[in-house]
Amino acid sequence: MRFQFSSSSLLALSCLGCAAQQLSDAPSRENFYRRGQVSATVIGNYVYFDGGEISQLVDGKPPGQQNYQSNSVNSTISIDLSKSWTTSDVVMRTIERPWYSKMNQVIWTDREAGHFYLWGGTWIRGRNMTENTLWKFTPDGNGAGTWTVEPAANTKFFNDLHQSERSVFVSTKDTGFAIGGIASGWTGLYRASNQIIPGMVAFNMKTKIWQNGTTAFSPFDSLLGGTAEYVPFGPNGLVVVLGGTAHPVNNGKVLDEDTARHFDFHNLTLFDPQTKRQYWQVATGTIPPSPRIAFCTAGFQNPDSGYEIFLFGGSNARDRFVYDDAYVLSLPGFVWTKVPTSPAGLRRSLACVPVGKRQVLSIGGTSIGDSKSKGFNEQDPAPQGLLLFDITELKWKDSYDPNAAAYVRAADIEAWYSNG
Ligand SMILES: *[C@@H]1O[C@H](CO)[C@@H](O)[C@H](O)[C@H]1NC(C)=O
Ligand SMILES: *[C@@H]1O[C@H](CO)[C@@H](O)[C@H](O)[C@H]1NC(C)=O
Ligand SMILES: *[C@@H]1O[C@H](CO)[C@@H](O)[C@H](O)[C@H]1NC(C)=O
Ligand SMILES: *[C@@H]1O[C@H](CO)[C@@H](O)[C@H](O)[C@H]1NC(C)=O
Repeated sequence: MRFQFSSSSLLALSCLGCAAQQLSDAPSRENFYRRGQVSATVIGNYVYFDGGEISQLVDGKPPGQQNYQSNSVNSTISIDLSKSWTTSDVVMRTIERPWYSKMNQVIWTDREAGHFYLWGGTWIRGRNMTENTLWKFTPDGNGAGTWTVEPAANTKFFNDLHQSERSVFVSTKDTGFAIGGIASGWTGLYRASNQIIPGMVAFNMKTKIWQNGTTAFSPFDSLLGGTAEYVPFGPNGLVVVLGGTAHPVNNGKVLDEDTARHFDFHNLTLFDPQTKRQYWQVATGTIPPSPRIAFCTAGFQNPDSGYEIFLFGGSNARDRFVYDDAYVLSLPGFVWTKVPTSPAGLRRSLACVPVGKRQVLSIGGTSIGDSKSKGFNEQDPAPQGLLLFDITELKWKDSYDPNAAAYVRAADIEAWYSNG
């Protein structure tokens, strides 16, 4: 009798234990629902990503039945690229982070020095906001690393810069650029109003000097939600800016779609990161539909000194729908090729990085959802929210190959060059 009694109380205890199941920054494949608004980069053998929100099953309860459908991710995450894995058995390592969570942060990578920076973004639920800070991550080479504050060489100037979210960012060999963005009470401490941020900020990763090139060198009045890729052409390289929306800077209704200028993928804007000279170039082929924001891109240099940019997903804020299509822009031909549509549905607010020579890793993304759930209450058909795309075979995959052959242009794209 006594034995039976204690075994049933043990059972009760273990049920209490399961009722207290914790939310996780890296839940199991079964519990994972959605991840969105992360910023990602690759250094050495690891992908690192930070920020954003996640939704998951807790005690078998879907996100819609929890206090919050989505929760801030409270650590930086890394994935090992030296080993093969599938999107179902991938191991995500969590790394402690000294500030409370943000989403849509600017990420800049100093490839030569082997570290990366995070700046700006939205403080999730406005919690634990701090003064303007640039954070630097120094990897330890084994999938973890350390976050430290990176002081500006021109401190006073830096302190006065407006932090924003959804600016378009890119890293060249020595400089990080952030074009446009929107500042709000969630991006800056004590900020009262929403404001479209004009122009372009530059951070020199070698000298740590910040500049605001708004009047001197920005190719845009304002810009939100596009992407930019640094292409190693010519002595200084070129930055190709893709998609996004320009909202008038001094408009009371800051995100008004009627007064916005939507950038298409036909007439592309480029600038020289050194001279800041601006160029435009008309592209041909199958042009991705626009308006489009919150999509992702990833770039690959090919052995013929050309460069291909993969573009995937996003949303059309004007007509209110989400995309699931994908394209490759080939340079120097400036020709777009439509590639197979994602096998895992509509996806916006995602990040893409080039991994393993010729694969794109797409991280997170939410689907349409209702306005309240922001798409976090629908389980992602992609395990762990991850998708892989082989840019030579032009095929979606669910396994990562660390031994993939070197990148060469896909046969279909190469044919465009050889046929003139
Ligand atoms: C992150 O921390 C916040 C604040 O403590 C908490 O509300 C949230 O649930 C945490 N997120 C996860 C995924 O555990
Ligand atoms: C956020 O603020 C709360 C309350 O001040 C504190 O307990 C918590 O440790 C802070 N979290 C972070 C990550 O700074
Ligand atoms: C850069 O300068 C312009 C013009 O003074 C200003 O409106 C803008 O907010 C500044 N950008 C940032 C990020 O502070
Ligand atoms: C492309 O856009 C630029 C402005 O950004 C404009 O000056 C140029 O005329 C456009 N070209 C075409 C062919 O539409």
